[in-house]
Amino acid sequence: MVAVAVKLRLLYSYGAKFLIANKMTNKSNSSRVFHRTLNALFPQAVSAKGVYISDSAGKQYLDGSGGAAVSCLGHGNQQIIDAIKQQLDKMAFAHTSFFTSEPAEELAEKLSQKGPRDKTTNGAWRTYFVSGGSEANETAFKMARQIMFERGETSRSHFIARQQSYHGGTIATMSAGGRAASRDLYEPLLSTNFEKIMPCFPFRWQKSGESDEAFLARSSGELETMIEKLGDRRVIGFIAETVSGATLGAVPPVKGYFKEIRRICDKYGVLMIIDEVMAGMGRCGKLFAIDEEGVVPDMITLAKGLGGGYQPLGAVMVREELAQEIEQGSGAFVHGHTYVGHAAACAAGAAVQRVFEETGIIDEVAVKGEILAAKLAQAFSDHPHIGDLRGRGFFRGIELVKDRETNEPFDGKHGLAMKIKKAAMDEGLICYPMGGTVDGFNGDHVMLAPPFIYTPDHMDELIEKLGRAIDKSIAGIC
Ligand SMILES: Cc1ncc(COP(=O)(O)O)c(C=O)c1O
Repeated sequence: MVAVAVKLRLLYSYGAKFLIANKMTNKSNSSRVFHRTLNALFPQAVSAKGVYISDSAGKQYLDGSGGAAVSCLGHGNQQIIDAIKQQLDKMAFAHTSFFTSEPAEELAEKLSQKGPRDKTTNGAWRTYFVSGGSEANETAFKMARQIMFERGETSRSHFIARQQSYHGGTIATMSAGGRAASRDLYEPLLSTNFEKIMPCFPFRWQKSGESDEAFLARSSGELETMIEKLGDRRVIGFIAETVSGATLGAVPPVKGYFKEIRRICDKYGVLMIIDEVMAGMGRCGKLFAIDEEGVVPDMITLAKGLGGGYQPLGAVMVREELAQEIEQGSGAFVHGHTYVGHAAACAAGAAVQRVFEETGIIDEVAVKGEILAAKLAQAFSDHPHIGDLRGRGFFRGIELVKDRETNEPFDGKHGLAMKIKKAAMDEGLICYPMGGTVDGFNGDHVMLAPPFIYTPDHMDELIEKLGRAIDKSIAGIC
């Protein structure tokens, strides 16, 4: 029974069943690539420019989600491509157990100067570069544990994360994550040292009649309760996405939530780790989404928009004074991957930062995000099956409901999100629908994360195509 449930969740979450039905272009058995879905046929992407990707059949797709909130500056940005080429001409790779490199130093310096700061810190940050978001969070967990070790607080062995979160696909990051569809199959392998509290998601978790203040107190208060339950000096850190991404569909925190989280972490000596793999690097209208919350975390993990899709790049930023605890203690971080601080990847990251600086495009995201929100509201706020429109900047979520009066979701068995993904592809649109919004199985949303270079015309094209894809998919199950 459990196995059947797991299989169903996998099918509906990853869309195998629906992709098979999709008329894709490559032949099924001729590919020796181990694709994400083995019984699906994917179109072959052959070129990408601006906000469009083209396949080998000549079909164009409007990129409405940057893939998975990756392509922040769109495709084919010559400045970034040139920076990578120049770095490759000079030096592609020098192992970081022997050398540092100019692009890594430049990017770390830029992130340090731009990182969140307040009166209580000297403001500096050190950055450990990796190749993606999972590695970034995995690295953050180990770094946090080593910081506790340097302090002599070796009894600290647990992390606290949130239900309905996503922090990556490795064993530790899945242990931290709360996304049932990706955890179920691997549950026996996962660490039990990652406890969960509720997400800060009022649309689904605020009780009827509960005031905003009471909801804020309850959602943040679960952290304190969990820390106390685990016992004195047992917790290393708390990890949360600033704006919840793929699993919930662009849910910003309620005002004051992270201030309260910071207070609780400080009270118990727990490190506050903020996952900005999706929400960071300008996606929400500020370079760091946490800057909107007025608190400084202890660590920030980054990926996706950091390299903009031009190179695989992730990072852990840690407050300088915490890095110094390791520097003045053991001296070395007991961790490493071959491609840590890859020079060509860091060159891409530094070039992305230069584009941000020279164009002021992140300020534009804040403004254009409001235009997109208004257009989405105009198109969908009276839609009989859209229960919530949410998000920040160019990070937007649309939650689908069966019944707008009660917000009852569609049953997970329909796989609505994956039907929308397929219908959108048919329309020539890349967006990011996901099922399981309510409880890991039921409920569906569509996440949008367009490139920052979008114009209002692109927004209109996105909304038209998405509207047709949603209506067609719902018609198929109602
Ligand atoms: C918030 C968040 N953290 C971590 C990850 C993992 O990143 P990656 O897929 O690059 O390993 C993701 C990926 O979607 C994410 O959204």
